[in-house]
Amino acid sequence: MATTDQPVETPTSVLQEQARRHLWLHFTRLGSYGQGSEIPIIVKGDGCYVWDEHGNRYMDGLSALFCVNIGHGRAEVAQAGADQAKELDFFTNWSFAHPRAIELAARIAGLAPGDLNRVFFTSGGSEAVESAIKLVRQYHKMTGNPTKTKIVARKTAYHGTSLGALTATGITSLRAPFEPFTPGGCHVPNTNTYRLAHHMQPEDLAETVRERILFEDPSTVAAVIMEPVQNSGGCFTPPEGYFQRVREICDEFDVLFISDEVICSWGRLGEYFGCERYGYQPDIITTAKGITSAYAPMGAMITSDKVAEPFLEGTASFTHGFTFGGHPIACAVSHANLDVFEREHLLDHVREEEPRLRGMLDSLRDIPIVGDVRGAGFFHAIELVKDQDTKESFSDEESETLLRGYLSAEMFRRGLICRADDRGDPVIQLSPPLIAGEEEWELMEGVLRPVLEEASRRMHVGGQ
Ligand SMILES: Cc1ncc(COP(=O)(O)O)c(C=O)c1O
Repeated sequence: MATTDQPVETPTSVLQEQARRHLWLHFTRLGSYGQGSEIPIIVKGDGCYVWDEHGNRYMDGLSALFCVNIGHGRAEVAQAGADQAKELDFFTNWSFAHPRAIELAARIAGLAPGDLNRVFFTSGGSEAVESAIKLVRQYHKMTGNPTKTKIVARKTAYHGTSLGALTATGITSLRAPFEPFTPGGCHVPNTNTYRLAHHMQPEDLAETVRERILFEDPSTVAAVIMEPVQNSGGCFTPPEGYFQRVREICDEFDVLFISDEVICSWGRLGEYFGCERYGYQPDIITTAKGITSAYAPMGAMITSDKVAEPFLEGTASFTHGFTFGGHPIACAVSHANLDVFEREHLLDHVREEEPRLRGMLDSLRDIPIVGDVRGAGFFHAIELVKDQDTKESFSDEESETLLRGYLSAEMFRRGLICRADDRGDPVIQLSPPLIAGEEEWELMEGVLRPVLEEASRRMHVGGQ
């Protein structure tokens, strides 16, 4: 059971009733919370742990959806937001500037690789991706290529939910209910080397981008968008040289390269930006989540000098914006968040601890249902299979029984929050706060091993 060590005085039944009646949970089957089953209500956080309304403690193995990189409960980060609210509560970035946004833009430009020097703030990741899609279109129009509008993205990738971002998102079940949306999304294979198509080698994967651009006609393609490690589908890392080749292809056809680092920046892969881990230089980075460790909502689009250049002259303007982009409180919180990164050497910590996290996960490979372990930094996935040798996966119905009927609830019951996901083949994803260490790896293993062993038995995997 999740450990109960801090009773919290909350009228639980009232909150449950109000949540059922009034709160619309995102990406959630509202019907699954009948009178017999509770909505998990999280009331408090500290370090790598959170507590529910009953006082049960959980390890936050997902950093509250890849967000809380510095861990929960940092009083000084909260204080930075409060102090800022007293000094200047809000002013907008439409035509005006304020000190915290200016300082943060300069600080981010100093950390970002190469000539990524200009920062456009948003309130979250979808807004950052939406901004990038609009920017690349306007950029090409202003530089004499008005027909360059299409976006090449990868299958099963998640780039957000607004209608423009959905163009790039490559998950059919998230797209279909909302079609038609912004046209121009073209999808190529992702870097799932565990399930590489028979006729392909890892080094062929980047060539699919070239083929697709040629097929569409390069004069119609505005940008390629990719995550350094693709989240959806389960932490697909790139093969050797993949991103360098994609960069070359983009240059060959005057296509801009957007590195969507909503998850993969701010230490998640052991660097401030995921592209640094793999040694490639994008034209635009989209980011969010860890930029404030989610102590306040914020996202950003960071662009190269080349991309910003046409907007700096005469009457030109990027005719796009969001009221809350660069909110002073979020900017102050982001500064305090980055101060923690520096003070506690969090990037070094991730690099040092990555092999131990990975070693713990690899040690689970003897469990019959564990097919693959992959990822980078503090961002890993375990793919679940029916047969380790043939890599046979589960049917949709079996995935439903496995993930929703058992795994998610059981891991939570035992005190571990992580993600059981079947947007591709079924995976468990782990993305702990960047302060996690030995104690947390032991705790994770203590939950994962018995739960995966029991899942193997229930699904009759490995002759069990
Ligand atoms: C790679 C990527 N892009 C975009 C988004 C959308 O971000 P948000 O949910 O903040 O709108 C996400 C969200 O997880 C993401 O992982």
